[in-house]
Amino acid sequence: MAESTMQKIVSLAKRRGFIFQSSEIYGGLKACYDYGPLGVELKRNVKEAWWNDMVHRRADIVGLDCSIIMHPDVWKASGHLAGFADPLVDCRVCKERFRADKAPRAAPGTPVTYREGGRKDGKKLEGVVGPQGYVCPVCGSGDLSDERQFNLMFRTSLGPVDPMQEILNNVEELARLQGNERKERLAALINQSAVYLRPETAQGMFVNFLNVLNSGRVKPPFGIAQVGKSYRNEITTSNLTFRTCEFEQMEMEYFVEPGTDEEWYAYWSKFRFDWYTSLGMRPERLRLREHEKKELAHYAKACVDVEYFYPFENPEGEGEWGELEGIANRTDYDLKKHSEYSGKDLSYFETESKKRYTPYVIEPAAGADRATLAFLCDAFDEEVVDREKNDVRTVLRFHPRLAPVKVAVFPLVKKEGMPDRARAIMDDLLAEGINSFYDESGAIGRRYRRMDEVGTPWCVTVDTETLEKGTVTVRERDSMEQTRIPGEGVAEYFRNRLKSSGNRI
Ligand code: GAP
Repeated sequence: MAESTMQKIVSLAKRRGFIFQSSEIYGGLKACYDYGPLGVELKRNVKEAWWNDMVHRRADIVGLDCSIIMHPDVWKASGHLAGFADPLVDCRVCKERFRADKAPRAAPGTPVTYREGGRKDGKKLEGVVGPQGYVCPVCGSGDLSDERQFNLMFRTSLGPVDPMQEILNNVEELARLQGNERKERLAALINQSAVYLRPETAQGMFVNFLNVLNSGRVKPPFGIAQVGKSYRNEITTSNLTFRTCEFEQMEMEYFVEPGTDEEWYAYWSKFRFDWYTSLGMRPERLRLREHEKKELAHYAKACVDVEYFYPFENPEGEGEWGELEGIANRTDYDLKKHSEYSGKDLSYFETESKKRYTPYVIEPAAGADRATLAFLCDAFDEEVVDREKNDVRTVLRFHPRLAPVKVAVFPLVKKEGMPDRARAIMDDLLAEGINSFYDESGAIGRRYRRMDEVGTPWCVTVDTETLEKGTVTVRERDSMEQTRIPGEGVAEYFRNRLKSSGNRI
């Protein structure tokens, strides 16, 4: 069977060092991934492009870097401890567990066919949808458990109190207690030292609102931005890095005067959509999807997702819309909740107008891993160069700002001093901070194709004309056109080209 686009991307990502399964030599760890030498560059470039465009190129946004472990009351105030739970259902046939809201629904009693044990080669069986009204999205059975709540936050403990020891010290008392009383006592023992890995970076910005306001010479409308790891014990993980348990977010909380929030919500929705297209993402594979009232999180007045058409495989074929980023109008919910729980006044006093108010917050919340995956999928192309010769080249058409390697330098042949000239050019490029790669092995055409496959926008070749006239060949990745430029100013030439693409070096 022909490979799907997603299979090709996954295999290229591994083969060329973009994304590896975590702990692969031990059999891998589900939904955990590592970025290889090219992947780490790509993801850093995505994060740097975000930081440049959201913080450095604006006077109204400042940055922050908060700790991952925060005071547990932060999560009580934010609602994560009570409400950050997914309803889950288990399939009794294939034993998969998944989010109830993601499971296809059908009326109880509807006939279904599925494979024995959920195996592809299992005997074909017939059944009906159970009283819960769910069909297993994996094996198609209708035999599913009731919904159970499951908290998505990773709990750990901080300080000298070991929760295991506490339980052992109190085991007799626990044995005497029954039902809820026992559960509550157990929770009290564990919670003495319980802390959580943050499930979003956003709360760090809310709890530092006063610190930034008092130290940062900012006033509404202004934003606080942060890029960092978040952790969620996700149940349904799939499609490479799309949904993982450890991931990086790029979030910005924009504090505005109430009444101006809708205007800013519209502004940020457009700004964030345009950010992806400015980095070369195909507009036809992007859309803005406004949330319906029933989808809105408890804190949101409105929310719109920037969605990308990922080439994921699904029962209908290839491709499905998935969230890339959410832009939410969080109102004054978070600041008011943290005021209530911390006892600190988190309102803002505007001296000119003598007005006091709790700012509303517009939050563009993006995922660095999900964006990296989308840029990788979007860049992937198989171009028919010559149909008769069956010549197809794989090319990653990354925007120059995102390309992991910007320039590759080749000597045409390994003689006549060409390698030395080529290496000197690469050293100049590296000294300019332009990530470059030297390659002298194999035919020149093969070397170009290898760089196409990792998305390098430009290749420079040192050839006989370089030795005679001092010029080098520049080969463009997308058009495959070749031009000659003076060999002396190569680093400056690419510095200018990168600068005009919006790159900061
Ligand atoms: N502060 C709001 C917030 O966290 P979210 O929609 O849950 O909102 C924002 O997350 C973005 O973070 C998502 O649009 C997605 O890009 C990324 N994200 C969320 N959960 C993720 C996961 N399990 N794996 C990878 N990325 C994730």
